[in-house]
Amino acid sequence: MTTAADQIIVALDGMAPEQALAFCQSVDGLRWVKVGLELFVQAGPEVIAQLREQGLRVFLDLKFHDIPATMAGACRRVAALGAELITVHACAGSEALQAAQAGAVEGAANTALKVPTLLAVTVLTSWSEQRLKQELAITQDIRERVPALASLAAAAGIGGCVCSPQEAAALRVLHPAPFALVTPGIRPRGSEAGDQSRVMGPGAAIAAGATQLVIGRPITRANDPSAAFATCCADLDQAAIGISGVSCP
Ligand code: C5P
Repeated sequence: MTTAADQIIVALDGMAPEQALAFCQSVDGLRWVKVGLELFVQAGPEVIAQLREQGLRVFLDLKFHDIPATMAGACRRVAALGAELITVHACAGSEALQAAQAGAVEGAANTALKVPTLLAVTVLTSWSEQRLKQELAITQDIRERVPALASLAAAAGIGGCVCSPQEAAALRVLHPAPFALVTPGIRPRGSEAGDQSRVMGPGAAIAAGATQLVIGRPITRANDPSAAFATCCADLDQAAIGISGVSCP
């Protein structure tokens, strides 16, 4: 059965490897963590093994975007490390996405691990429509571009996408479960929005169709991270009243 703790992925941003490992041990009930570029570049694949030894499940957020053969090779290696969620850019195109998915299946099979879920990144929230047009000559509205790229990824066999909580409801209509929708931009009541501009509470994001939430600073920078994590779990438990069949990888 999926519990609230299974739906919260804590982003280990801005921490040195030893700090990240100690932090994870200090949070009661933590199940999932997100390793991003910064931590991975410092610590390498070893950190994934160390986190798994703590009993944690790992989302490796390296946002692969390359030619098909390189995408396949990278996903094969990452799947063999035991990462269970892996990000790829939908803009890499269908051939590269299919190759990435095939690589992940192969990497897991070689090591008898579960096949990871690949998550497509559609449009990074740091882009505005104006800059997409000026710098990349992309004239499509972001509101149209996000579902179009999510559909491209789904058709290529990718298992889900990363999206803002505001996009979750519309994407859920287009892509029923088990397509995963993982949403950052989560702020529990009372926490600071910081540099996130369009935020949503944990329960509301799950109610909108998200399968899992990425939460960083509201937990990692809290005075009492265990209490902050528990508050997020409680919000999800509340939201689960009336929602049935919520499942995640
Ligand atoms: O600290 P905070 O909760 O804002 O962290 C959110 C995490 O999700 C960070 O690791 C950030 O890089 C990531 N992310 C995001 N917005 C996106 C994609 C990823 O905030 N569109």
